[in-house]
Amino acid sequence: MNHIVVTGGAGFLGSHLCRRLIARGDRVTAVDNFSTGRAANIADLTGHPRFALRTTDTTAFGAFTGLDGITHIAHLAHPGSPFAAARDSAAVVRAACTGTLAVLDLAAAHTARIVLASGPDPGTRLDSRRPAAFEAHRTGHHLIETAAHHDRRTSTGIARLFEVYGPHLAPGDGRATATICAAALRAQTLYLTDDPAQSFVYIADAVDALTRMLDTDIPGPIDIAGPTLRVSEFARTAIALAGTGWLETTPGRARPDSAVPDLARTRNSLGWRPSTDLPTGLHSTLTWMRTVVAGAQTPRSC
Ligand SMILES: NC(=O)c1ccc[n+]([C@@H]2O[C@H](COP(=O)([O-])OP(=O)(O)OC[C@H]3O[C@@H](n4cnc5c(N)ncnc54)[C@H](O)[C@@H]3O)[C@@H](O)[C@H]2O)c1
Repeated sequence: MNHIVVTGGAGFLGSHLCRRLIARGDRVTAVDNFSTGRAANIADLTGHPRFALRTTDTTAFGAFTGLDGITHIAHLAHPGSPFAAARDSAAVVRAACTGTLAVLDLAAAHTARIVLASGPDPGTRLDSRRPAAFEAHRTGHHLIETAAHHDRRTSTGIARLFEVYGPHLAPGDGRATATICAAALRAQTLYLTDDPAQSFVYIADAVDALTRMLDTDIPGPIDIAGPTLRVSEFARTAIALAGTGWLETTPGRARPDSAVPDLARTRNSLGWRPSTDLPTGLHSTLTWMRTVVAGAQTPRSC
């Protein structure tokens, strides 16, 4: 039986991944410090005989001590929320450096495969003007690639996730997708100051691709992405499905379109392609968010 450690297992992506792995018969240990993760995300897994939770920081001494028979590690412990990342950039950098080194040591000790959830474009050169979270991703990415190069026993994989949306997306965490859905459900006017094209992928598709990535020995980077559209198109669809909300686009600082995913490469490597269309994915996102949005503080622009 696989024993898969999911760092960041109580987060948005991690909780869905844990659920999928448990459903297919794996044993799963989620490791999370609950900086942005929530117990509610994994409440249905608590008490399952093949699921265990370690509440600790990946950078803490002894965080992984005593775990046995690890076959895979999905390394997701890094705040996805831009607000959380901006609040404590030192923690973000520590998680990317010390945390990634710790899971690489763990992978080497167990001859386990490790897959890192990275961002679309970590770039190759350090740029201190970019947010710490962005640079931290680049560092984690680099450490995994270096390990792949120098330690042939460790199987490593890098998944470049584009904008993922779906149930458990925290409404007030500053991601564009969460802000748009929450504003629509609150019947608010959403202010869009620029309208870049970017790729949106539904959580069930992203988890499917991540699971395939764990099951192979492909190093990547592999793009996990969905259809590319304008943010305004995502917002208009959310507003139409919610039946409430307005969109106001105001000219602002032009933001470049995000990196273009190479989905042909993903299809050839993993035999995967996104299968959820935007209305279907948004419908289930809105249905879930309706249950939590009332109590959340949410921004109105993105
Ligand atoms: N969701 C997306 O659209 C997206 C896109 C690109 C990359 N990613 C990356 O995927 C990963 C997961 O993203 P997410 O959307 O699930 O974010 P999230 O914030 O919902 O989940 C991250 C989880 O990691 C935990 N965590 C953070 N630092 C930790 C540490 N040092 N030790 C232990 N636990 C820690 C948090 O408590 C949280 O549960 C992140 O690395 C993120 O940058 C996500």
